Amino acid sequence: QETDKGTYPYYMLKEIDEQPNVMRKLASLYTQESGRPNVDQTLIDTMKQADRIYIVGAGTSYHAGLVGKKLFEKLTHVPTEVHVASEFAYDNPLLSQKPFFIFLSQSGETADSREVLVNVNAHDYKSLTITNVENSTLSREATYTMLLHAGPEISVASTKAYTAQIAVEAILAKALGEAKQQVIAEEFDIRQQLGLVATGMQAITDEKDFIESLAKKYFVPTTKAFYIGRGIDQTVSLESALKLKEISYVQAEGFASGELKHGTIALIEDGTPVVGIITQKRTANLTRSNLQETMSRGAQTFTIVRKGLAQPDDTIIVPDVDEMITPLLSVVPAQLIAYYTSLNKGLDVDRPRNLAKSVTVE
Ligand code: G6P
Repeated sequence: QETDKGTYPYYMLKEIDEQPNVMRKLASLYTQESGRPNVDQTLIDTMKQADRIYIVGAGTSYHAGLVGKKLFEKLTHVPTEVHVASEFAYDNPLLSQKPFFIFLSQSGETADSREVLVNVNAHDYKSLTITNVENSTLSREATYTMLLHAGPEISVASTKAYTAQIAVEAILAKALGEAKQQVIAEEFDIRQQLGLVATGMQAITDEKDFIESLAKKYFVPTTKAFYIGRGIDQTVSLESALKLKEISYVQAEGFASGELKHGTIALIEDGTPVVGIITQKRTANLTRSNLQETMSRGAQTFTIVRKGLAQPDDTIIVPDVDEMITPLLSVVPAQLIAYYTSLNKGLDVDRPRNLAKSVTVE
């Protein structure tokens, strides 16, 4: 049974462990053996007309959208904006001449996102919903749908939906980029990359004992923590901090590592955990020195580093994949840190206080 916990104590851990299979499934459903994307041609034709992409989402889905912006801009060269649904709905942002909307929603039922979609439809703009739930409201009301095929996600804290959303965005960006004859998209072998991601995720989830020991020693006793990074790593720092907040009630912040020194570094005290996410060659050394700055103010620092950039005293090393899709791997240790912190605090991992799996009020 898909909705059975089996031998797992909580759904969240089961869902973290399911991620490699979701990656393989998406690769086989949305790409051909040749590596070419397998995406609805009418969707691609519609997107080709757009002069700007607007991604809308809430919570973890918004964070997946932040990664999507990087993917669309790199692979398609179409300017892309990402908006928090509840803000977009009432802010009336200035739109381009030919906007195309992408709604990211695990449940397909989030009221804040739906409010935006109602407005989008009133203007006859075209849209795509990327969701895990077939026939959900956002799926029915958008022009197009791409499914996440992640299987039911039951734990309130989203894990496999985040990585599935990023994988689908990468496939879609590749398909649109190819249609727009972008060389970088033609050369991006998403099928092969998702295979590497699946194996890489497996390798990380095999390190559970080590990650649990870190969680017990450093994250259970703390009331605050930081994840820092630059560029795409900064977006993962936001999602990593959100996981920790949601289920372990640690006040965590995700931060642009270069911006920390302009104020927030005042919060660092003796023993405050700071995790640097380092997967991008261009900014690796900068984030390392920002981490050093927190260490010299007493922080207990950790790193989540892509193998090709690793140094001897790094904490967690994730396998190498294309720099455009490193969030698929760098988020996994953060999911596990949040899980084991919550578990070892004796909290109900799957049903954190004050939260609902899907929020159908504005
Ligand atoms: C709720 C959940 C979050 C989720 C957000 C968006 O707040 O607690 O985990 O990220 O809704 O949900 P959606 O189904 O639209 O992705």
